[in-house]
Amino acid sequence: MAKFQPLQAPKGVSEYYPVRSAIFEFVRESLIGSAKSSGYQLMELPVFEDTELFKRGVGESTDVVSKEMYTFEDRGGRSITLRPEGTAGVMRSVIEHNLDRGQLPVKVWYSGAFFRAERPQAGRYRQFYQVGIEAIGVNDPEIDVEVIAVAARAFAGLGLKNYTLEITSLGDLESRERYTKELRTFIATLNLDEETARRAEINPLRLFDDKRDEIKSAMAKAPVLLEYLNESSLKHFERVQELLTVLAIPFTVNKRMVRGLDYYTGTAFEFVHHGLGAQSGIGGGGRYDGLMSQLGGAELSGIGFGIGVDRCVLACEAEGIALPSSFGIDLFIVPMSPAAKGASLELAERLRSLGLIVDIAYGDRSLKGGMKAADKSGAKYSLVLGDDELSTGTAALKNMKTGDQLSVTIASLHDVVRQEITNASHS
Ligand code: HAM
Repeated sequence: MAKFQPLQAPKGVSEYYPVRSAIFEFVRESLIGSAKSSGYQLMELPVFEDTELFKRGVGESTDVVSKEMYTFEDRGGRSITLRPEGTAGVMRSVIEHNLDRGQLPVKVWYSGAFFRAERPQAGRYRQFYQVGIEAIGVNDPEIDVEVIAVAARAFAGLGLKNYTLEITSLGDLESRERYTKELRTFIATLNLDEETARRAEINPLRLFDDKRDEIKSAMAKAPVLLEYLNESSLKHFERVQELLTVLAIPFTVNKRMVRGLDYYTGTAFEFVHHGLGAQSGIGGGGRYDGLMSQLGGAELSGIGFGIGVDRCVLACEAEGIALPSSFGIDLFIVPMSPAAKGASLELAERLRSLGLIVDIAYGDRSLKGGMKAADKSGAKYSLVLGDDELSTGTAALKNMKTGDQLSVTIASLHDVVRQEITNASHS
């Protein structure tokens, strides 16, 4: 009987372990690869920051800040928060290290865990993973479209099809001010409870993402921001649409899109997957004109996105997307004698140094046990190595998917396995 009770992960966190972790890795690496191809460079930031950063950056009227932050006091009595999103931290770092005084735009990518104390459900976790990018210091429609294209290329690279891109413009600060005035007048006609009125006072746009039916139906009659854009905001937004069309990135304009964070201005977008149920947003982002200066930096604009890696994993699974052949174990060796155990290790090391991914059945196993291990590992090929194989220098290479066997010389094993993998990926 076990002495101790086993422990469980905290409620609502996402975890990935073999073999499903391979698809998580595939998704994350594809997203990062797309950002790198467009010249974005790594920014590795702390997962906890001064609480003030998110209050000022993300906004106190948002659910994320007012209800969902993991905030605690550290041993020095400082208020610390586990990062609920990545943009505010990137801005803090750019300002702190004077990157805004160098070459513009500053283009960075990041990847890691984020934390929001939300009610857990399928696709909504308290610890989740994002890959994000930010392009800071240039306010051109061209860079807006570059950012959107990084996401679109990443999704296409994963093989996803069942999703759409929605875009809108939240206008520049001037358009926003004009609109907010109208919106406040409209909101004043509603009969709101004290808490809701307080939220609306801080940011009236927040009422658009209120989940209650009565608020939703009242807000359906509210004026729409897209209709209040000044000339330059409208021109910018039209150019974004033109360029998306040039790049053959399909989109729809969603006039009523509201992003859950307060810093957005101008171009905003969301990628929505249609096979995920309620948590359908696989990625989203937009431009943020006032954020840098609000955090004590220069008056620079920026744009970026965060893509939910967990939701992309679910989307790949929903669309039955198979892992590419570059993922997973190529060859699993099953040694059948003490001499073969040493020889297998030597052979595996040689093949690994040539770039194959190789594993071995460790311990003393029967042929059946060894093959079961090969099967469980998800390897593409297996090879049984006994005293006979060692003395003849030939062995049977088994294709684990088809069951076909091929007699190969051990000396040619690397070339044969490579060739077989290439043939299989083309068939
Ligand atoms: P966001 O829309 O809050 O934006 O999050 C981006 C993505 O993260 C969402 O589309 C979703 O896929 C994923 N996500 C968010 N919350 C959860 C959760 N609880 N569980 C699982 N996945 C989740 C931002 O975070 C902005 N910082 C994006 C950005 C960058 N805007 C400009 N630059």
